[in-house]
Amino acid sequence: MLTDGDKKLVTQIWEKATQSLPEDFGGEALERLFIVYPQTKTYFPHFDLQHGSEQVRAHGKKVATALGNAVKNLDNISQALSELSNLHAYNLRVDPVNFKLLSQCFQVVLAAHLGKDYTAEVHAAFDKFLSVVCDKLAEKYR
Ligand code: HEM
Repeated sequence: MLTDGDKKLVTQIWEKATQSLPEDFGGEALERLFIVYPQTKTYFPHFDLQHGSEQVRAHGKKVATALGNAVKNLDNISQALSELSNLHAYNLRVDPVNFKLLSQCFQVVLAAHLGKDYTAEVHAAFDKFLSVVCDKLAEKYR
């Protein structure tokens, strides 16, 4: 469960990220995912996965927007992600372990760009947030 303090930190750091990170930071997280955990590429056989790929950039934007939507709905993440959970479980059939891997990559991207602003407290709160996102995205697999 996210405490009020966690929610405040998550909201603040997301705002800072959207203001100060390159617009395609979601694409950067995806690129890291494909390099660090190459097995994740199997879900994207129809994508150009080369560095600088427009498809990865556009997809990263969609993923980051979905995360932003969850940040705006911290009291109701489950509902905010319900459709995406259906999509990943029933249509895409993404193994939920991969959600954790992408979360890890998002954390590294935030830390790399935000540096000292990504304090241990912020890291802890954002880690909790992403872990809720992963749980909610995996909800429909039962
Ligand atoms: C599609 C979000 C994790 C594989 C999508 C879309 C969004 C999204 C917003 C587009 C849906 C649409 O077009 O209506 C997320 C979020 C994630 C996550 C928030 C976790 C934080 C993953 C992971 C994988 C994955 C870990 C696989 C390793 C896919 C695939 C598509 C997709 C294959 C369809 C791409 C296409 O053909 O356009 N996801 N996703 N997702 N996602 Fe995820």
